[in-house]
Amino acid sequence: MNYLHYAEKYMMDTYKYLPVVFTHAKGCKLYDISDKEYLDFTSGIGVMALGHGNKKWTKAVKDQLDKLVHTSNIVLNVPILELAKKLTKVSNMSKVFFCNSGTEANECAIKLARKYSFEKYGKGRNTIITLNRSFHGRTMASLEATGEEELHKYFYPFPEGFKHVDINPTALEKAVDSNVCAIMIEAVQGEGGVNPLSREFVNKVFEIAEKNDILVICDEVQCGLGRTGKLYGFNNYGVQPDIISVAKALGGGLPMGATLCNEKLKNAFKYGDHGSTFGGNPVCAAGAVEILNQITDENFLEKVSKKGIFIKNFFKNKPSKNIREVRGIGLMVGVEINGKASEIQKEVLKKGLLVLTAGTDNVVRILPPLIITKKELEKGLNIIYEAIDNM
Ligand SMILES: Cc1ncc(COP(=O)(O)O)c(C=O)c1O
Repeated sequence: MNYLHYAEKYMMDTYKYLPVVFTHAKGCKLYDISDKEYLDFTSGIGVMALGHGNKKWTKAVKDQLDKLVHTSNIVLNVPILELAKKLTKVSNMSKVFFCNSGTEANECAIKLARKYSFEKYGKGRNTIITLNRSFHGRTMASLEATGEEELHKYFYPFPEGFKHVDINPTALEKAVDSNVCAIMIEAVQGEGGVNPLSREFVNKVFEIAEKNDILVICDEVQCGLGRTGKLYGFNNYGVQPDIISVAKALGGGLPMGATLCNEKLKNAFKYGDHGSTFGGNPVCAAGAVEILNQITDENFLEKVSKKGIFIKNFFKNKPSKNIREVRGIGLMVGVEINGKASEIQKEVLKKGLLVLTAGTDNVVRILPPLIITKKELEKGLNIIYEAIDNM
């Protein structure tokens, strides 16, 4: 049975679906309705960090499903308390707010930064600087924060108080005035083309922030939770932000997001300032505790780094006239090509490999589950290389 036409008929045209429908998965492999096997180099866009069907995560979620699925935020549940303690500890942060997605985690970060600034400096100091080519989500404030005009054009008016700047220290310095309350960055921009920020630029962000009592928000929705071989993308730069937003990998496939803050901000929100019906759901939380346990396990992150180096070396040893640059950190890699990444995506799909694109359709994005083996990596990389080289 071919279900694909259902999408055209019944679903809004917000996505460009590839011609495949998956029914099940295991580890780094996906299977379609005719049981054809595909290697997953996408991890559901950074979500399935531990691969598909991780036994401990599945058990934690199933056990919790049998015990308690939802209450509300007028009461507490055990998994969310455990998760709050663990997540703040490993993140070196003081407090956390739970929500359901990356865009919501960023909305919370924006509100928190503005509330802190309002209380300390009064009305008007509410501008948030974000970077060109950034991606922070699809709800109105997070979308306005996103430095990609193409995504904005139909949706005006947006909330006020955002400034987008180029990723260079001088542009940043120029944009700072007395109304700025926060600078929001992705240590490695994902959707924008897999662009790791330079150390010089990150240092400048923190230097300006410190000098002017401006908060730094790190959007770790895509590059966080082990993806770069460190717990957070910003750990590669030796800095610690005031606010961290996470989602994707945290839920292990269930919707979950979180916004973490440091000592300075821990009392900024008061009763009534923010909320979410599903945020703090015990089933998602029980799974998230298991995700954190595994990602923070000894040697796990070191292995991710090694696999990242393996990818870089693969392309170093196999240059191609059609490859412009290979960049990224850990298992977040972008291969910039002369040509359309979406064509490569379609081509490799035929060979049983699922990859992502990024940037202006000029980057093949590799974002596999963090548990992928070198053998699986090599197999997929050869398929990608051949498709690019034969373009
Ligand atoms: C860096 C970053 N922030 C925010 C988001 C939005 O997350 P969500 O789609 O869960 O709302 C994404 C999604 O790709 C992202 O990559």
